[in-house]
Amino acid sequence: MSATKSAEERVATIRDGYAIDAPALTIGAAVVDGTTYADAQVKLPLGMMNRHGLVAGATGTGKTITLQLMAEQLCAAGVPVFLADIKGDLTGLITPGEGNEKLLARTASVGMDWTAANYPVEFLALGGDGKGAPVRATVTSFGPLLLSRVMDLNETQESSLQLIFHYADQRGLLLDDLKDLRAVITHLTSDEGKPELKELGGLSSATAGVILRGLINLEAQGLDQFFGLPEFDSAELLRQAPDGRGVITCLELPTLLQKPLLTSTFMMWLLADLFAELPEVGDADKPKLVFFLDEAHLLFNGASKAFLQQIATTVRLIRSKGIGLFFVTQNPTDVPGEVLGQLANRVQHALRAFTPEDAKALKATVSTYPVSDYDLAEVLTTLGTGEAVVTVMNDKGAPSPVAWTKLWSPRSRMGASEASAVDAAVAASALLQQYGTATDRESAFERLSAAAPAGASGASVPDAAGAGSTASQAPSTGGSVGGALPAPGQSQADIDAEARRIEAEILGLPAPAAPAPSAPAPSSPAPSSRSRKKADDALSLPPTKAPAPRGGGLGDQIGKAAVNVLQTLGNEIVRGMFGTSRRKRR
Ligand SMILES: Nc1ncnc2c1ncn2[C@@H]1O[C@H](COP(=O)(O)OP(=O)(O)OP(=O)(O)O)[C@@H](O)[C@H]1O
Ligand SMILES: [Mg+2]
Repeated sequence: MSATKSAEERVATIRDGYAIDAPALTIGAAVVDGTTYADAQVKLPLGMMNRHGLVAGATGTGKTITLQLMAEQLCAAGVPVFLADIKGDLTGLITPGEGNEKLLARTASVGMDWTAANYPVEFLALGGDGKGAPVRATVTSFGPLLLSRVMDLNETQESSLQLIFHYADQRGLLLDDLKDLRAVITHLTSDEGKPELKELGGLSSATAGVILRGLINLEAQGLDQFFGLPEFDSAELLRQAPDGRGVITCLELPTLLQKPLLTSTFMMWLLADLFAELPEVGDADKPKLVFFLDEAHLLFNGASKAFLQQIATTVRLIRSKGIGLFFVTQNPTDVPGEVLGQLANRVQHALRAFTPEDAKALKATVSTYPVSDYDLAEVLTTLGTGEAVVTVMNDKGAPSPVAWTKLWSPRSRMGASEASAVDAAVAASALLQQYGTATDRESAFERLSAAAPAGASGASVPDAAGAGSTASQAPSTGGSVGGALPAPGQSQADIDAEARRIEAEILGLPAPAAPAPSAPAPSSPAPSSRSRKKADDALSLPPTKAPAPRGGGLGDQIGKAAVNVLQTLGNEIVRGMFGTSRRKRR
């Protein structure tokens, strides 16, 4: 084809194809036969950002800078942005860039009128790991599916975890943090809880043990800091700065490489939460929020079928809420076909073709592009840094011509800002005040501890002290779990010991010394590192709605074939994406 069209004709095709009147981001200038045409600008209409996108390319080819460039322009257009800052190099957004000669030569060549600028950024840290306001989520709202993903559970174990959540929900046991979930599982595997475990069906004590071990692993990784209260409100991501620009929220991830799954799974939680909270908007002239999922392959590696399906559903449905989702990854083949097919806006940086595997991936990538005047296999392997092959959805909803594009450059600093600048931005953040201090309230752990005979736990909250009902009675809102008692005075230490015992049992190891059942519980069940605020304070969020009692006792409701229970659960999960659930606060 290229032999029959002149360079001029090919440039004209691109120029016309991107002559977009609607507000749009400018990505860069077209390149044809190695020449950059500053008058042929390659654009991405704001109104099509909710058709999602992909930024891909081998390491060092310019993906992060592309993300920064897009974030800046979205921000300037009043659109909030959320992104994961994998290497800390996006902190540069708060510092004006340096217009050196080399940069200005580059920006002039692509028709960009470059001036330095910096942007309003909120920094978040997962559970206080890294610089930023700590973000936390409750175990309940995270939901069994996402939690299974973080714990790397298989599908059977995942189903079991769903049962456990269901059980806790039926019993009105709030699962705020990891120790709450551990308390419930430990209870179910205790002598007192065994009959209930049986009733649950589909949950073997061996599986319960595996899950317990998974929880212990999470704690060992420090993730107990992530689960709990106050829970992050996803609406914080939708803010605008006083000057009308969109706020860029940067999730700082200094230890991502040790916790890749948590990060990507947390992002899915945020999306599910936004989905649940946001009204339908259909196609608007600009998105409400654009989300960049960096290192996206981590989300898909080894994911269960159910999880992949939920991602595909999320991607498909969230567009109508005005959210644009951009996956950033090295190779497009990292993204499952069902998701890839929904990513209309593509910025493909250079691909390597060293190995037969590479060659196959290259071929697969080329085949996903519309027909063009380029020899894409050739172009994709020879693109320079900061260049990409682009195709987007134009303002009429049709694919734009494929364009080899030399990208514009960010106006803020490429690379990290000074640590002191980041510290200052974090200190000035209103989010830090709101989310800076962990809180605790009467949840499953306290309930199961406090339900012990009088005096067994100094942590008992008056509400939960009225033990006396039995397991066969229907749970009532705010009532005690009654006969479902853990060992008297069970403390975190007891739970740890119990967890180890179960673990040893599963692994066929010699049993560790039995926990001393008479050990007095500490006066507070919360780890001392947490500031335990007054219950009132912690409960300033309305407590999770206790499940409405349906018919008879627990046995009547779920003491049926596990299949039925799972079907019901399946429906509940479809209701909220990923089965996440949370209180309505607005
Ligand atoms: N649009 C651009 N304008 C100017 N320089 C750029 C541009 N894109 C990339 N660069 C240069 O290339 C370097 C590498 O880019 P970047 O960090 O975005 O690569 P990457 O694809 O994210 O790599 P990795 O996979 O290792 O994270 C940048 O630090 C910058 O110097
Ligand atoms: Mg990068």
